[in-house]
Amino acid sequence: MTQAHAQQRLDPVEMLGERFAAAIADAFAGKLEGGAVDPLITPSKNPQHGDYQSNAAMPLAKTLGMPPREVAKAIVEKLDLGDLATPMDESSIAGPGFINVRLKPETLAELVGELDRPGLGVKAEEQQTIVVDVCGVNLAKQMHVGHLRSTVIGDAMCRTLEKLGHTVIRQNHVGDWGLPIAMVVAKLQSEAKAGRIDLGKVTLDDLDRLYKVAKQESSADTKGLKAVERFQLGPKAQAELEAQVAGANEALEHAKQTLVKLQSGDAEIVALWQKLYDVTMGACLETCKRLQANITAKDSAGESSFRDQLGEIVQILLDKKLAEEDGGALVVRNEGLEPTLVRKSDGGYLYATTDLAAVRKRVKQLGADRVIYCVDARQALHFKQVFATAKKAGFAHKIGANEDSTLEHAPFGMVLGEDGRPFKTRSGENVKLSDLIDEAEQRAAVISTEKNPDLAGDERQKIAHTVAVAALKYADLSSDRIKDYVFDWDRMLAFEGNTGPYLLYTYVRIRSIFRKAEEQGIVAGYESAALAINEPEEKQLALVLLRYPATVASVARTLEPHRMCGYLYELAGTFSRFFEHCPVLKAETDVSRLSRLRLCDLTARVLADGLDCLGIQTLERM
Ligand code: ARG
Repeated sequence: MTQAHAQQRLDPVEMLGERFAAAIADAFAGKLEGGAVDPLITPSKNPQHGDYQSNAAMPLAKTLGMPPREVAKAIVEKLDLGDLATPMDESSIAGPGFINVRLKPETLAELVGELDRPGLGVKAEEQQTIVVDVCGVNLAKQMHVGHLRSTVIGDAMCRTLEKLGHTVIRQNHVGDWGLPIAMVVAKLQSEAKAGRIDLGKVTLDDLDRLYKVAKQESSADTKGLKAVERFQLGPKAQAELEAQVAGANEALEHAKQTLVKLQSGDAEIVALWQKLYDVTMGACLETCKRLQANITAKDSAGESSFRDQLGEIVQILLDKKLAEEDGGALVVRNEGLEPTLVRKSDGGYLYATTDLAAVRKRVKQLGADRVIYCVDARQALHFKQVFATAKKAGFAHKIGANEDSTLEHAPFGMVLGEDGRPFKTRSGENVKLSDLIDEAEQRAAVISTEKNPDLAGDERQKIAHTVAVAALKYADLSSDRIKDYVFDWDRMLAFEGNTGPYLLYTYVRIRSIFRKAEEQGIVAGYESAALAINEPEEKQLALVLLRYPATVASVARTLEPHRMCGYLYELAGTFSRFFEHCPVLKAETDVSRLSRLRLCDLTARVLADGLDCLGIQTLERM
């Protein structure tokens, strides 16, 4: 049996789907045009009616011009669920024509037994090479709350895809090239010459400050000057604004010269740029590590790494007659999109040009079957332009295959403050990601001291760190990726509700059951114990557990980690109900106790594995 089959056999939705599809084909042979009909199997909304239901009769009734209950009856007559479910008859049909199915306890036990193997039934049918664009920091800028999303969501996508057996290559497309960077390099040089900064001790905070100063110096208030002239605001205002514009032009000119030197390899300028790079990336990778995001130096492929290819990229666009001149600049036109600028009239290249080179590398050199960009939704147009141009130019064409690699933008919304506006500090600055982690840790430490005053200092610190990171990441991952969400400390750190701490707590609770069982010497043999799934709460738990492989697959397909969060939250809730109603250590028989221990253990492993997909670590105690 192939792995793909093993996975399919685990998922009751798929198994029932096959049987229903066969019954439908059989019942209406010759009356239905086209291919197979979707049997529309879903888990039952109301467990009293059954475990699963098929909603196929209603749409079929329309197509066939028959009453839906008649359609349902015809399907049930042909249905062969033999070994899977309890026998079906007219009483299985409810309302307008829903068909309810109840699985046999033995079937459930067998399926859960299949799930309970290394890998938990998670495996893709076809292994791909997938490049994921993550993090995307910029030199001389602190990581802020927006990078939480590109880092945390991007890493969760990578982990989920890896779990399915794909080869995943992370690419951190660092903004490390171009005029803004040259501007900071120029500023760093003049500050160092003037003795105002010690190059040996530069921090990212220094660079961030220089960036802001440089930006201000080179952005001229030309509009202000025009207004002065137009409204005749007087010689004083005129002189002031003229001086400012002149200064700005000078700063900009200096930055341009610095960029030329940087491009031609001037030793002093290159060394300063390297300083900028090392300081920024040092801080960035440290933050990734604190966030337990698997993004390291080897994943960095900054804009600068494409600098020597940009001329060639534009030449290809010209040769293929895709780029055309427009007022001295070169643009590519794609239907339905605004033109994409690929070379400015002064000869400079753009963000889009670099991204075209990056597509080419990812597809041709890294061998990507699929390229995913986990980037802010505000860049949607940019990626549409890049993807359309890359495809036309052949940059997305897979080597040795007659098809293009899939290019996908997986956009995310903004993080908002309580006031519903972009999340900022009180003084209106971007919130530094490292400050955010610090604060999360402090808050988590206070909570953990309250809950558990006897913990030793270093253990408390470890717990606080894990809980803090779980809370922060989970809050980000559990909200619908494309939507904006409101940052809320109290909600994310709560031990109830759909939060990271709640899931960690559920895991810890199961681990403590096992510690107790061990103390009482009643744990041996549960790993291979026969599963007895009889109580409704045992059954519910089994049904939710069985959805795990399909959940991982759906996150990989939709790139929506919040589906995993929703699943884990449901699993935790179902487990709680099970634990409330079905005594484990005090079960009536040994058979029942060992079976329940096995269910507990499987739940813990599914929780840990699902959290691992999200990049969240578990704890033994908290
Ligand atoms: N550095 C960019 C920014 O801050 C993000 C990079 C996204 N990735 C890409 N391939 N363009 O906006």
